[in-house]
Amino acid sequence: MSADRKIRVALVGLGFGAEFVPIYLHHPNVKSLTICDTDPKVVNAVGDRFMIANRKTDLNDVLNSDEIDAVHLVTPIPLHAQHTIAVLKSGKHCACTVPMATSIEDLRAIVAAQRESGKVYMGMETAVYTRRFLYVRDMVERGEIGKIQFLRGAHYQDMEGWPPYWMGLPPMHYATHAVSPVLALAKTRARSVQCLGSGTMRPELHKQYNNPFPIETAIFELESTASLAAEVTRSLFHTARGYTESFNVYGEKATFEWEQIEEEEPVLFKKAAPAEAKGSRGSMITVERIKVPDRQDLLPKEIARFTQRGVYDESNPHLSFLQGGGHGGSHPHLVHEFVSSIIEDRQPWPNAVITASWTAPGICAHASAVKGGARVEIPQFDG
Ligand SMILES: NC(=O)c1ccc[n+]([C@@H]2O[C@H](COP(=O)([O-])OP(=O)(O)OC[C@H]3O[C@@H](n4cnc5c(N)ncnc54)[C@H](O)[C@@H]3O)[C@@H](O)[C@H]2O)c1
Repeated sequence: MSADRKIRVALVGLGFGAEFVPIYLHHPNVKSLTICDTDPKVVNAVGDRFMIANRKTDLNDVLNSDEIDAVHLVTPIPLHAQHTIAVLKSGKHCACTVPMATSIEDLRAIVAAQRESGKVYMGMETAVYTRRFLYVRDMVERGEIGKIQFLRGAHYQDMEGWPPYWMGLPPMHYATHAVSPVLALAKTRARSVQCLGSGTMRPELHKQYNNPFPIETAIFELESTASLAAEVTRSLFHTARGYTESFNVYGEKATFEWEQIEEEEPVLFKKAAPAEAKGSRGSMITVERIKVPDRQDLLPKEIARFTQRGVYDESNPHLSFLQGGGHGGSHPHLVHEFVSSIIEDRQPWPNAVITASWTAPGICAHASAVKGGARVEIPQFDG
């Protein structure tokens, strides 16, 4: 990549978004960083901590600025579609945190806005840049998993006490951390879904989204020459389960299963000897817990350390700041892909069409749950 090409980035929404600040500040192809949040206290706290002069409290000032090439949105979920379309219409490249949107109409509008603008749109899907995803993706590429026979994704998280827009959110409207690795590893899209809502939650949580379900569980039919299915479960409320964003892949040669408890290592099952070679019932399956490598080698040296927690911000050695290690070390990989795609004048991974194809299955799954589990066809996005 051309070392002398540099872009000017704005980061908008500084809750979770603040985690990306030091990564942009250190990326060799980023010339300047503007930070923006509607809450002046938040902008000033982040600006003071990282000594950033470019501070804004109105997205319109970002959109109207000639000094910004690309915008990374980390604003609340209900604002993603309108903010993304506004960024693309302003002629700037756009990255947006998940979910891309929560309706099929908005997904289509974003795909259209990207195409009309000719700018980069990237879905900042942490689940497809984790250490575990990168490891299993490479196993699939090398043929070590063999033919994929089935996949499973799960995302359990308790959202009590989160900002108001989360309260009662249909679980499948934020399913991409469980859906995207499954579809990306199978290299396909979901064609249809049957989903059931499960459990009960207190009535006040039903109101905002007219959703009665704390948990939704879905079976997706994947597009494939042979039959292929994936199961995805998502829980948000009233369920005693520790946080996990996981995927499992069941292959003819090997199976990868995510650890049950976050502090453990994942499990790899391998078919060591088929039944016929053994001359007895059932194949011999070996099982081992595996240490998944950190892929700092895929990153510029200036931002590689942000795959890990507990780095000090060199720009202000007085402040230790836990940074960057969240979500399986994915944050610097996401920033690097977004910046690189702009510098190299190419589509990022995932682009708008792929991100829409990872988001629509969850939207359709909730529609199925509302209809008591009826089969719902999942729309395709052109690209
Ligand atoms: N793994 C992941 O990919 C992951 C993890 C956490 C959060 N997220 C996503 O990130 C987004 C933000 O999450 P959060 O927990 O920080 O939310 P939050 O609601 O706590 O914080 C959002 C921030 O955006 C600011 N904001 C609100 N409206 C704005 C506007 N119009 N312009 C500029 N700033 C505005 C708020 O003041 C706040 O500081 C959500 O959409 C969430 O889905 C993704």
